[in-house]
Amino acid sequence: MNREDFPMLKEDIIYFDNGATTLKPKVVIDSMNKYYLKHTSNIHRGDYEAAVKTNELYDDVRRLVGEFINCDGNEVIYTSGATMSLNMVVFGYMKKHLKKGDEVLLNKGEHASNVLPWIKLSEEIGIVIKYVPLNKNYELTLDNIKKCVTKKTKVISLAHVSNVIGDVRDVKKIGKFAHDNKILFNVDGAQSVPHMKVDFKNSYIDFLSFSGHKMCGPTGVGILVGRYDLLKEMEPVFYGGGMNNYFEEDNSYELKNIPTKFEAGTPPIAEVIGLGEAIKYLMSIGMDKIHDYEVELKKYFINKVKDINNIVIYNNNSDSGIISFNIKDIFAQDTAVYLNHYNICVRAGNHCTKLLKDEIGIKNTVRVSMYFYNTYEEIDKLVEVLKNNNDIYKVII
Ligand code: ALA
Repeated sequence: MNREDFPMLKEDIIYFDNGATTLKPKVVIDSMNKYYLKHTSNIHRGDYEAAVKTNELYDDVRRLVGEFINCDGNEVIYTSGATMSLNMVVFGYMKKHLKKGDEVLLNKGEHASNVLPWIKLSEEIGIVIKYVPLNKNYELTLDNIKKCVTKKTKVISLAHVSNVIGDVRDVKKIGKFAHDNKILFNVDGAQSVPHMKVDFKNSYIDFLSFSGHKMCGPTGVGILVGRYDLLKEMEPVFYGGGMNNYFEEDNSYELKNIPTKFEAGTPPIAEVIGLGEAIKYLMSIGMDKIHDYEVELKKYFINKVKDINNIVIYNNNSDSGIISFNIKDIFAQDTAVYLNHYNICVRAGNHCTKLLKDEIGIKNTVRVSMYFYNTYEEIDKLVEVLKNNNDIYKVII
């Protein structure tokens, strides 16, 4: 659907690397160009017409995010991406509120951005990280989470959709459980917000992070949404211009209100505007429609590929557009290079999810990650190329 909106799709490629970043529709690119060509200006500092226009566009994106994921606009903080958002949660909020011995539940299907900040925090203040085991399909379940909860559990932190297995974690149930047990619920929405309806308030989420570039928006911008009462207790991680009311020689200072106090320095203005366009664009298609279509595409692929007997798929069951597989006895990167020979773009490797090997017993996979502009015909082409995989070393060497 909507392929004509994407200039990159006029190139001779089949783009199946949407988990890494998505293509950008022309409306998003145009909105950013318009800012650069017609009303370049900083925000919250200028009193001239261009600046007023920029302010309006920039500030309105908080309202749009609120509408998109059901939160209040003043709970929306602009960041550089999900990684920065997750770091702000850990070092701006958790560092102040957790203490030695407090337990944080992660799992081995998490991306580096939802593991490494916690490892660093554990080094700094002695929190204890516990990894909830995945089930036989490498998926995270509430039952397994419950088995790991103790009196010391203070946080459950997880990706709503994991980036390799693509399992959709039941955030509503997990959030309710966390809420009822006074456990903080931190969600990495990088692989869910672009692909399905996410409901911040009704899922009892305390903090939600996601990136613009994985949802038709530009690189360099992301969002952190935090429950307002928690944001009141969060410290900025960065200090500088734009986020303070005053500072004096005697070291006294006053910060601006939430969310501005968390946005030091000139923010990614064009990118925020572009992200706003991307959100409008996705809403005009409909998130349920996007999710249903991606799941259909995945089923179609799995059904077609099952006759190729040396393909191993690691996530047949998960309800997203992510498929992780290998050709038996072939290094994942070799498969990616082989597919590239036919202009098919996929990602190979550990996908920044370096602990998943402990669960699935293999370090590297090939990942096909789909979006609404992919087609059944593109999958046919992928399957046809995979069918001829006995040619792989003739092609790539
Ligand atoms: N986190 C991105 C991915 O999963 C880059 O590919």
